[in-house]
Amino acid sequence: MDSLLFFTIFLLIFSNFSILNALPPNIVFILADDYGYHDVGYHNNNVIKTPNLDALASAGVKLENYYVQPICTPTRSQLLSGKYQIHTGLQHGIIWPDQPNCLPLDDPTVADKLTEAGYESHITGKWHLGFYKKACWPTNRGFKSFLGYLTGSENYYNHTRGYPFSGQEWFGLDFRDNLDPASNYTNTYSTHVFAQRAQQIIQQHDKQKPLFLYIPFQAVHGPLQVPDSYVEPYKFIKNGNRRNYAGMTTCMDEAVGNITATLKTEGLWNNTVLIFSTDNGGQVYAGGNNWPLRGWKASLWEGGMHGVGFVSSPLLPEEVKGTVNRELIHVSDWYPTLVEGIAGWNLEGTKLDGFNVWKTISELDSPSPRVELLHNIDPMGPGDTPPIMDNPYPPMLDNPYPHMLDNPNPKPIPDCNFTFPTQFNVSIRAAIRYKDWKLITGNPGPGNWIPPPESGLSPVVPIVPDGKCVWLFNIKDDPNEVQDLSDEEGVVLQFLLNRLYELQQGALPVNYPKPDARANPALHNNTWDSWE
Ligand SMILES: *[C@@H]1O[C@H](CO)[C@@H](O)[C@H](O)[C@H]1NC(C)=O
Ligand SMILES: *[C@@H]1O[C@H](CO)[C@@H](O)[C@H](O)[C@H]1NC(C)=O
Ligand SMILES: *[C@@H]1O[C@H](CO)[C@@H](O)[C@H](O)[C@H]1NC(C)=O
Ligand SMILES: *[C@@H]1O[C@H](CO)[C@@H](O)[C@H](O)[C@H]1NC(C)=O
Repeated sequence: MDSLLFFTIFLLIFSNFSILNALPPNIVFILADDYGYHDVGYHNNNVIKTPNLDALASAGVKLENYYVQPICTPTRSQLLSGKYQIHTGLQHGIIWPDQPNCLPLDDPTVADKLTEAGYESHITGKWHLGFYKKACWPTNRGFKSFLGYLTGSENYYNHTRGYPFSGQEWFGLDFRDNLDPASNYTNTYSTHVFAQRAQQIIQQHDKQKPLFLYIPFQAVHGPLQVPDSYVEPYKFIKNGNRRNYAGMTTCMDEAVGNITATLKTEGLWNNTVLIFSTDNGGQVYAGGNNWPLRGWKASLWEGGMHGVGFVSSPLLPEEVKGTVNRELIHVSDWYPTLVEGIAGWNLEGTKLDGFNVWKTISELDSPSPRVELLHNIDPMGPGDTPPIMDNPYPPMLDNPYPHMLDNPNPKPIPDCNFTFPTQFNVSIRAAIRYKDWKLITGNPGPGNWIPPPESGLSPVVPIVPDGKCVWLFNIKDDPNEVQDLSDEEGVVLQFLLNRLYELQQGALPVNYPKPDARANPALHNNTWDSWE
């Protein structure tokens, strides 16, 4: 065969995109922190302004059956590893700053694989996947550069993190330029820092190579800090938390606009796929909202996990631009979707729980390969110390839900009354989805329906009988989890309980090490640093 013809056929077969594109697409992955389902303009929110996110989503594909994990480290671990938490040992909670733990080092991260595919991979923002030894740090996990922080919940301006440790108050700078402490960013607001760094990376990028840029913003997690100018338009919101959160959201939206504009001026945009996702549901104590979904951050209710997410790109075929995608997609799916679906590379050396959903996103009527989704099985349950929730977000302005603050992390249900025959221990905190069905067992966390403070509506508090520990919902018919069908749908219930039991047989033991006093920043020049 004529070699040019052969080459052309090769390209037609192996490239997902136009043969004019010599390079695989650039990938820009933006991850917001604690960004609530209700808090983006296109989810019928006409209070909080997100013009850039709305425009990108409207020009792309809105993912409306899209799931993340209920808290921070778990979502990030699945994004970077493509694995469920039962396969990394990170089933329980976040990685606390004093825990000698990190995303397991034996498997390549998505950044490793994209780097292998010829990409330059950079991260600016929040890591939160462990830092007790340098091997765990982002620049040793596939990223060429890192500007950001290793823990969570720090000050947005001076980038320090306080932390209580058996009666002591630890305190240290948590900001790094690659491996080095970066103390010269004091008084620069993190959303501006990360946007600027992202823009710099784009400007300095060698255009002969594809770019993978991961931007996990600090916004819009507590503490609720933002320059006054962003809060100005929201003066009418009476609730202080919500007002600040609204300002933080608009600032993040502006950052996304700036980054996109730079991609355009640098000529990269026409070969870029931009993905936007939250890491978990909004935290109602810290300004976020997930209305009309049930529950919030850290819970196994939809408000904790049903995420805001979209894909925007000039490379998407015209017929999918502006559509809403209702196929089941999960944060663990990004790994194979980016590596195989977008970069056109291989998945050798990986063992993933995620599915390549690129066809599902980029083609009409292409069903998701994912029919089942294990949300989690956490045998430690909620309520272990340290608590799942971060200590109250300062500044704790008007908390609109004082009656719900009493016990945000109750212990696992002690006297679970469930008589249906099952091998799975239903006092364990777990949830699984199969097609439209969702089963929850154990203690899912608070399950109230919380309207946005500015709506003037009152929270709805369900009456939950003592000992209740199993719920079954049809999420397609009942996305807000109002009607529990566990008494009516025995066959479905049995099937899902069996699936939980089977999946648990393949689970790794939970890795949740004890706090380590060597993490104290006072021992590391008043910075949060590795200690092994
Ligand atoms: C950073 O700000 C916090 C208050 O939010 C304060 O407690 C701390 O002392 C400040 N740190 C530095 C290094 O300025
Ligand atoms: C901090 O210092 C680094 C290294 O000298 C420099 O590249 C960066 O621009 C500085 N950042 C600020 C905000 O001054
Ligand atoms: C966006 O860019 C404008 C113009 O350079 C700048 O004033 C603004 O601070 C930037 N916003 C963010 C969030 O980076
Ligand atoms: C993308 O834009 C650049 C610069 O404007 C141009 O050289 C290139 O051919 C464009 N690529 C495609 C696929 O349109």
